This record gives sequence, structure tokens and C-alpha cells, in this order.
Amino acid sequence: MNTSDIHSFSRPDEVVVKHLSLNLTIDFSSKIISGTATLMIENKTGTSSLFLDSRELNIRRILLDSGTETQYSKGKVVPFLGQSLEVKINSDTKKVIIEYNTVPEAAALQWLSPRQTAGGKYPFLFTQSQAILARTWIPIQDSPGIKFTYDAVVKCPKELMAVMSADNDTVKHADGIYHFEMPQPVPSYLMALAVGDLAFHPYNNMCGVFAEPVMMEKCAYEFSDLPKMISSAGELYGEYQWGRYDVLVLPPSFPFGGMENPRITFATPTIIAGDRSLVSLIAHELAHSWSGNLVTNATWNDFWINEGFTVYFESRIMEKIYGKDYADMLSLLSQNELKETIREMGDTHLDTKLYLNLKNRDPDEGVTDIAYQKGRFFLTRLEEISGRDKWDIFLKKYFEEFAFQSMTTEKFLAYLDKEFFQKNPSFRNEININEWIYGTGLPADCPAVKSSELEKAGIAAADFAAGIEASELKTEGWTTHHWLYFLRSISDTLNYAKMTELDKKFHFTGSGNSEILCDWLRLCIKNKYDPAYPELENFLMTVGRRKFLKPLYADLIKTKQGQEMALKIYSKARDGYHSVATHTLDEMLSYKN
Ligand code: BES
Ligand code: ZN
Repeated sequence: MNTSDIHSFSRPDEVVVKHLSLNLTIDFSSKIISGTATLMIENKTGTSSLFLDSRELNIRRILLDSGTETQYSKGKVVPFLGQSLEVKINSDTKKVIIEYNTVPEAAALQWLSPRQTAGGKYPFLFTQSQAILARTWIPIQDSPGIKFTYDAVVKCPKELMAVMSADNDTVKHADGIYHFEMPQPVPSYLMALAVGDLAFHPYNNMCGVFAEPVMMEKCAYEFSDLPKMISSAGELYGEYQWGRYDVLVLPPSFPFGGMENPRITFATPTIIAGDRSLVSLIAHELAHSWSGNLVTNATWNDFWINEGFTVYFESRIMEKIYGKDYADMLSLLSQNELKETIREMGDTHLDTKLYLNLKNRDPDEGVTDIAYQKGRFFLTRLEEISGRDKWDIFLKKYFEEFAFQSMTTEKFLAYLDKEFFQKNPSFRNEININEWIYGTGLPADCPAVKSSELEKAGIAAADFAAGIEASELKTEGWTTHHWLYFLRSISDTLNYAKMTELDKKFHFTGSGNSEILCDWLRLCIKNKYDPAYPELENFLMTVGRRKFLKPLYADLIKTKQGQEMALKIYSKARDGYHSVATHTLDEMLSYKN
């Protein structure tokens, strides 16, 4: 095993991959990617073995340098980690050429039928490599602490277009062959590929959006603040380092909200609300171009180094563009979610620590509000102590100093000590760093968020509780965020008449806003408000975003009747979900495949 990364079989202290060349053919009829992965390596110790990560890959042949075939062997299969792939090399081997193919069930890949796309005519393929799924489509050292440059040639059906986390052409190629180059070193979890019927809309020569043609008009409208986001982010923490920044809008089965693939964020279509109210997700993925993609968590135990910094940065971008009142609404909603998460987990739960212990566990278990929101509020607390000016200087320097490197929690704390505390010794008494990083629960000095805007929604919720009719509530000028706060503030035990009253007045069941709809549907489940059930089923059948599926199914299975409904829908919907989602839901629903 890798001594520093418990989730990889690689041994980067002995041999490290410096560059990857892919030559891949995408076959939709067999759901197989086949071709070669050529690794340029640096053998540091003169060892005769290169250890790679692989999971369910068919290896056909491995050649060295100028083409001599070499021996290889696969290790024992470990759940979710896959197997080590040990390749015999020489002390002077520079190049390892692996001929291989993926299996149709490869966990990183989702092969969509035309019916699962917006256009309905062509199939679609996308990858999701984070956290440790890259090894299901590329034999590689699959550890976030190892960075390499890459190039690729991808051959796909002529009607379709391929894009990667690299420099993308913005037009279809008649021959279906696409060349990519990523000249900056990236970790394997940022390897990404999508193939589909795609069009491109540029905002300027710096950024734009890829989407299916029938989605393009809506997508282009929704993300029109992209240029502002990029310039704001750059003003905060230094120039954008990756050339172009584009967003690819995927079909609704994409299991995440967004994925920060370098140069091309992959995004769920569920943020296309029609009113640009859910674009903070784009600010988040863009922020990863610094926190995560430039300065990268060295291991998945350090996940908060990626997400905590990114949520903090996201919030600063939102504040810069839309103002403090707007950013405060988002922060308060998030802080309440964090408190709810900690309440559910229990405030002595070990996974409420920022620094995680994921030994013998799937890194997916570390994806909770803790890394994101506790991580963010830790940084907000540091900002509070030093004042914004000093803090921004510190952060900007941090991104500059560690660009294209990886970061452990310990390394960050050492840097914080050197650049923050030693320069301002009085700050030390203001915070207990160990409690924040290595302690459970939420420290008492967590900055409290106030939102005068959301107070209005709180008042409306109180009025409703006091018996004031829905039609009399003061809701003029409300944004999506007011509605979410309102839905989360009203009692979750309401009678049928009250639910009907709300729905009649505010048309929640027909909401085109996925966030509002999800919160409303949760309320419907809790109150057995059956007029919304067809919409609930429709939502679960079309949307594959885990963040929505998890709470909805969890609420359903709390009652006997709901359990039946959940299983009935799940057995129909499951085929359309990504493995990331079914992995979570199979366990939650005790589903036997
Ligand atoms: N990098 C994450 C997604 C991720 C994390 C995938 C861990 C696999 C393992 C991405 O940046 C993210 O955090 N997405 C969020 C949205 C964000 C606004 C909080 C999501 O998908 O919900
Ligand atoms: Zn993120």
C-alpha cells in the first residue's frame, strides 16, 4: 500500500507517473472504452515494479519503451479499492504502454440511452472519477497526492462530440476523432471525459457553456454571469491558471451537483432554474480551480482542504457579485444544514472532525457537510480574528505558494502557524485550532450567521404557524432562498388542509426549481400529501442527483406505506441512476440487486 494514501496501491516514493497519454475508442453498443494508456514514469529507486491502481479493468498486454512485452500481475480484490496492478519494469524504463478495456459496469462511467438525454436522439457517456473511481477507466496511480500532465486521442461516433478535462475544441469533428492536451499537472480524480450530442455557447473568448442543443438557450441564459465570476475570483485570490473555463451541463442522472473537472466543470441540469438563482454551485466549482485543482488535498482524509476552502471562496465570489445580503442568505441556509447534520450524527461522532479517518472505508463516507461547512466556518472564524484584509493576503499567498502541489492538514497548519500566528501572536488566544481540526462537533466560537432577508421568511413561517392563511403571508420579492428558508421553518406536521392551502397559493408541486421542489416533496412525504405523489415519482424517475435522492428516499422509508412506495419507485428508477447513487441507495433501502 501507499504509505501516505490509504486508498491507493501506488508507491510514488519508488516510481511516479509524470505523464499519461490516452488513446481511446468509445463504443456505445458494448458500453466499453478500449485502447491504450501510456505512462511516462520516473523510477526513483531503481525498483523493478511499478504499482498502479485498477478496478475491473481488462488488461490485454503491457509493453515497455520501444515495445518489449512485460509481465504484470493483479493483487487481491479489495472492496471499493479494486486491485493493485504490479508491472515489471527495468531501472531505466521510461514508458509503460498498457493495452486495456473497461467493463460495461465500470463505476466511473455512466452510459445513457437516448431516452435519458434532453434531446432524446443520441446516447451519452460521462465519467465521474472523484474520489477513487478513475481506476475503473484508467490504470493509473489513483491518489490525489500524485499529479501528472496528460494528452489524449478519443475516437467516438461521428454524430457525437467528445470533451475532456483539458483544452477542448468547441465544434464537432466530422471524423469523430478528438485530440486533447492538459499541460498542467493534475491528480487522477480530475480525469474526465464526456461524449454526447453537444453544442457550445461562448460568453467571451475565455468561457462558455457546453450542453445538448435543445438545452442550450436555457443554459446560456442561466450562466451568463460566468465572466463576472471568473474575474471576481481572480481579483480575490490570483489569476485563473487554467486557460479557458467552461461548464458542461449533463443529463439529469449526473449524481452530483457539480464536479470541478479542470477547464470544464460538469454540472447537473437541476440548477437550470430559469432565474439564475442556483448559480452559487457554479461559483463553487469555479473556486475549485484554486482550492482543489491548484492546491490539492493530499489524501481523502484531508478532504476539507478541498471543500472547506472552496465553500469559503464560493461565498466570497457570491458576496462580491451579488452583495452581502445575498451571500448571507446562502450562508445561513448552509449553517442550518450543518447544525442539522451534526445533530443527526451526534456531536461526538468521529466523522464530525475536520481531519477524517477513512482507514478501510470508502472515501465517499467523508462527503458530508463537515468537510464543506465546518471547514468553511473554520476559515470564516480565522477571517473574523484577523480581519478580512490580512486574511485575504494570507489566502492569496497560500494559493500562490502551493499552486500545483498537494496539501495535507498538517502542512496547512504549519503554514498557518508560520504566516498567520507567528506574524500576529495575539491571534493565538482567539481560537483553539486543535479543537476545530481534531475535535468533534461544532466549536462554540463558530461565527453565527445573520440574514435580515431570511428573517422575513422566518416571520412568514411564524405567521403561518399562528394561523394566518397562506394567501395573507407577505412573500413579495422573495428569492429561491427565502422559499427554502420558509419551507424549512414551517412545522413539518401539517394537516391535509394546510398543505392544500400552501400548494394552492404557492404552486410548490409544480415548481420548476429543483431545490424548492425537493424541500416541498419532503414535506409532502412527512404529511402524506398524496396530490404531490405523481410529481414525487416523476422527480425520482428523472433526477439522479444524490443530494435529492437521499433525503427523499430516507423520508419515504420512515413509514411502512412509504417503504413500499420507495421500493416500487426505486426498482423502476435504479437502472437510470449512476453507480455513485445506487451504491448509497442500495444500502439505505436494503435493496438486493
Ligand atoms: N468535488 C465535489 C463533488 C464530489 C466530492 C464528488 C467528493 C465525489 C466525491 C464538488 O465540488 C461538489 O462539492 N459538489 C457539490 C456542490 C457544491 C455546491 C456543494 C454537489 O455535487 O452537491
Ligand atoms: Zn466541491
